Amino acid sequence: MGTTHRAAAFLDKGGTGKTTTIAHLGVAFSELGADVLLIDLAGKQGDLAKHFGVWDTYQEQIAADEAWPNIATVFDDSWSTIAEKLGSDPVADLIIETDEEVDLIPAHPGLDTLDATLGNIDDAQTRYSRLTQFLDEYVDPLEYDVVLFDLPGLTNNVSYNGLWAARHVIAPVEMGPFEAKQAEALTTDLAKINNQFGLNITLTLVLPNKVDTRTTLADEYLAEFEATYPTAIAPTAIPQSQDIRNAAQQGQTVFAYGNPSKTAEQARAAYTTAADALWTHFKETTHV
Ligand SMILES: Nc1ncnc2c1ncn2[C@@H]1O[C@H](COP(=O)(O)OP(=O)(O)OP(=O)(O)O)[C@@H](O)[C@H]1O
Ligand SMILES: [Mg+2]
Repeated sequence: MGTTHRAAAFLDKGGTGKTTTIAHLGVAFSELGADVLLIDLAGKQGDLAKHFGVWDTYQEQIAADEAWPNIATVFDDSWSTIAEKLGSDPVADLIIETDEEVDLIPAHPGLDTLDATLGNIDDAQTRYSRLTQFLDEYVDPLEYDVVLFDLPGLTNNVSYNGLWAARHVIAPVEMGPFEAKQAEALTTDLAKINNQFGLNITLTLVLPNKVDTRTTLADEYLAEFEATYPTAIAPTAIPQSQDIRNAAQQGQTVFAYGNPSKTAEQARAAYTTAADALWTHFKETTHV
């Protein structure tokens, strides 16, 4: 295949479902036959690793060797020197495998100070393109079909690096006035970044999440999102599903969840059609 497609979940707001979205879209892509790598940049709490039940094991690994390279290390200006020491496949040391086919580079306590460290880099271009450099040079050769990032729910130097590197933004939105505003603000912000740096970062997928279609209010917001984002809106909304919450607490996605409820099955199907839509968008746009 040759081309690695990247996308990042982002909205300048907590709790709308970024982590859930990245976990589920990752598995959906993998079920569609793609090789998938997920990268957690969303903060040291390790939510994405928890979502796949691998956080405790990773914590043990961190405790056993504090100097082991991690996702924060790749932003370091000495990364290329470190990578050289690590040998022929330095990224292999960062990746852990999950039970659901997707590979994962988990979050790390080092992410805590990363925003401030990046803030000390004077040149904006350099400050925001560290992740891009790492991915271009070290991850693209691994020939994953899809690399998805989970970003912090706020605008900072780390999320900028994610947007920069991904170029495709996935915004999970809940059905409310605040999310509608946040999505609008995101579009404005992306336009500003694109203008300032000559980039083409697009809001590629607006994914309505936690939708309770029994309420007319949800329907009204859904219609509004469809009208505002006619091409980016996901074909099917992700329903509010207790199983999504339960599965996450058990360290899995609803794709691996035994005995799924009706809403869980709807969620699976919706994530699959969303992954399919993203795949189509990826093929339409080749970012160089
Ligand atoms: N469709 C859904 N149905 C039910 N619960 C959901 C759904 N999507 C997400 N959740 C739950 O909502 C909570 C927030 O979701 P998630 O952690 O994915 O959001 P987030 O945007 O990553 O949050 P943060 O900004 O804190 O990182 C979690 O408990 C998750 O299990
Ligand atoms: Mg999260």
